[in-house]
Amino acid sequence: MFVVAVANTKGGVGKSTVATHLAAHFARCGHATALADLDRQKSSLAWLGRRPSDLPRIKGLDLSKSDAKIPKGVERLVVDAGAAMRGVAVQDLVKRSDVVVIPTLASAFDEDGIARFLKHLDKIKAIRKHKRAVAFVANRVRLRSRAVEHLEFFLAAQEFPVVAQLRDTQLYVSAAADGTSLFEMRGGRAASYVAEWAPLIRFLTDSAEAGR
Ligand SMILES: Nc1ncnc2c1ncn2[C@@H]1O[C@H](COP(=O)(O)OP(=O)(O)O)[C@@H](O)[C@H]1O
Ligand SMILES: [Mg+2]
Repeated sequence: MFVVAVANTKGGVGKSTVATHLAAHFARCGHATALADLDRQKSSLAWLGRRPSDLPRIKGLDLSKSDAKIPKGVERLVVDAGAAMRGVAVQDLVKRSDVVVIPTLASAFDEDGIARFLKHLDKIKAIRKHKRAVAFVANRVRLRSRAVEHLEFFLAAQEFPVVAQLRDTQLYVSAAADGTSLFEMRGGRAASYVAEWAPLIRFLTDSAEAGR
């Protein structure tokens, strides 16, 4: 089983958006996929509840129960980590994950949040020893804006790569409301936004293959 944790202690940065999209991607590739939600708001599980039955199936898992078990046969597990996750919980999740994806917005507040989150990560041996792949996703970017330039500058100084930049579009809000993803939208309207996911998907595919 290949496990992707989508984490950032800050709320509203796109964790649920990224987690639901990655789960939709894996399911579309034909992998037996599960989506776990550690956030108190349970947005990802609610999204799953709205998911049309004719789309590739994703199994919802509630890992907040202490006796929670991951069903046999799951090939891809995406974990939407709660915004309030701190210390020990982060460590435990990271230990159980193959890749940690950190969505972030382009703002000074988010940079403070990232600095704090990276401090947590740095306490984890597997991260310090580079045994876990970690990647940033810059979300809701307005291309060529000063905020993005600043974020790029800030993230370049961190030790983990920015693997994707996702632009701001209402299509994500529609996808969230409909239990779907941009990958599953008909017509060409989402195509240029879908293309922005390619480097992140490649990063995950490479990590999954390297771990086999
Ligand atoms: N790239 C984007 N463009 C437009 N809206 C977005 C984008 N990413 C996320 N959103 C919206 O922003 C809100 C917060 O995103 P969400 O994924 O729920 O963040 P988190 O899970 O980190 O709290 C949601 O309403 C979501 O639909
Ligand atoms: Mg969320």
